[in-house]
Amino acid sequence: MLLRTLHIAVALCALSPVAHGQTSSAIVRGQEIAERACAGCHAINGRQGSTILGTDVPSFRAIAARPNQTPQRLQGFIMTPHRPMPGIPLTLAEINDVAAYILSLK
Ligand code: HEC
Repeated sequence: MLLRTLHIAVALCALSPVAHGQTSSAIVRGQEIAERACAGCHAINGRQGSTILGTDVPSFRAIAARPNQTPQRLQGFIMTPHRPMPGIPLTLAEINDVAAYILSLK
């Protein structure tokens, strides 16, 4: 199923300008990671976000829209645990992918 999605993504990328291909597959992987590791708290795909310990969890769309948001900032934030958001064990590659996905929501 995922493989098929990736194949479609790859096929679509073949039609778009060079260099775009790598970015879009990162976004596809990032979305998959976000569904698994982040969707419990953050609103993604139009679903409702939640509140934990009295803190409203910002939606990924709102996070993407912050002024001066950059992949570096996002990556740094995801790597640094801070309450009430737990430290999430992801590889550097996964963090890059999730950051690419979040920024794609802009
Ligand atoms: C247990 C709930 C929870 C999970 C799971 C979670 N987060 Fe968060 N996240 C939060 C909360 C709460 C905040 C707001 C923290 C604050 O306001 O200081 C937050 C804030 C953030 C921010 C910063 C938003 C800003 O203010 O600019 C980013 C980026 C972020 N989360 C990314 C992620 C990613 C990526 C994942 C999955 C890999 C994830 N979070 C999983 C609860 C969670």
